[in-house]
Amino acid sequence: MMVLSYSANAQDNPYELPDPLKMEDGRTVRTKRQWIKERRPELMEMLRSQMFGREPGQAPDLHFAVLEESPEAFGGLATRKQVKISFDKEEKYYLTLLMYIPNDRKGPVPAFLGANFKGNHATTTDPYVMLPPPDKVATFAPGYQIEERNTNGHRWEYEYILKHGYAVATFCYNDVDPDFHDGFHNGVHKLMDGDKPRNGESWATISAWAWGLSRCLDFLETQKEIDAKKVAVIGHSRLGKTSLWAGATDQRFALVISNDSGCSGAAIARRKHGETLEVINRNFPHWFCDNYKAYNGREEKMPWDQHELIAMIAPRPVYVASASEDDWADPVGEYFSLVGAASVYNLFGYEGITDRNVPEIEHPVVVGRMGHHIRRGEHNVRLYDWQQYISFADRFLK
Ligand code: GCU
Repeated sequence: MMVLSYSANAQDNPYELPDPLKMEDGRTVRTKRQWIKERRPELMEMLRSQMFGREPGQAPDLHFAVLEESPEAFGGLATRKQVKISFDKEEKYYLTLLMYIPNDRKGPVPAFLGANFKGNHATTTDPYVMLPPPDKVATFAPGYQIEERNTNGHRWEYEYILKHGYAVATFCYNDVDPDFHDGFHNGVHKLMDGDKPRNGESWATISAWAWGLSRCLDFLETQKEIDAKKVAVIGHSRLGKTSLWAGATDQRFALVISNDSGCSGAAIARRKHGETLEVINRNFPHWFCDNYKAYNGREEKMPWDQHELIAMIAPRPVYVASASEDDWADPVGEYFSLVGAASVYNLFGYEGITDRNVPEIEHPVVVGRMGHHIRRGEHNVRLYDWQQYISFADRFLK
């Protein structure tokens, strides 16, 4: 018998989810047009003002410089590019994107884009990947140490991805906004907001990381080797919360993947299983806007829930993955956000995941434009996850 280390009981905390197709004024959404013109904007407004904050527009002076390029990556499998994506004229604010493009290609290729935790060099054995520059390291989270190469390589199965015909690109999230609370002076907020006073709806750190993903997509749009209409945005854990928000705010992302995003990502907040709002807002006060804190311990008062964040991706393909030992992220709640968003996919003529029995471990499910699996094991990204993401992406991006 299979032992699940999470509670498989969908109702271990009885809750009622808000209906994504019910307008605030009580009307029911019946058409795609009404969703696009009325309900989606209403929900985006809610998510912006109550959760992630209002993201700014374009950077004042977005420009790109290829710092290094070689067609010899991984024994000639791929072309590597390392690119400085600058947000201002003085290049005080920038990120460094690491990109691999498969050499065996007939035309522009689809791509995966995601942020990483420990620096580009930590995602691979490739010895030519540059270390984070000293000015960046100085601003990274306190205690951040340049680690050896490849410490997070298991999360980035580059050769596997490239052999399946996809390009892949990543940057260190610290480049955009270091992951600690310093009053929003250490990252792009300073550039974009200047001295503008902050309020309850001001954008916070997850929103900044998502904004960084959009700037990378701006760059990918300039690359003739890349089919920028086929870019999947991916993220793990806090960066999975980020990929969902990037997919919501930037509809150019063709497909969205949440890997173990948990609380304030894919997991239904009202279940209060594993991490809760109170805990996340206490431990990471810089991730969400201040208004979000009003829902600490009052999840049932939220006028939305996380299935509606998933619904923001519709009708684009969305994949939610969990890990069996990752009770903190509430795999059951992550699954139920797909079920809760299915009605919105239906509106667009696609089936969705509606089975109220949580799938077994390592039984991936794809219905219409929704995908899901629970990998056996710990909170992480592994080859098994990438195998599912590639086969899901093959349906839509090939
Ligand atoms: C903590 C946090 C989670 C987050 C995770 C991660 O566990 O509580 O919300 O997803 O870190 O980013 O690894």
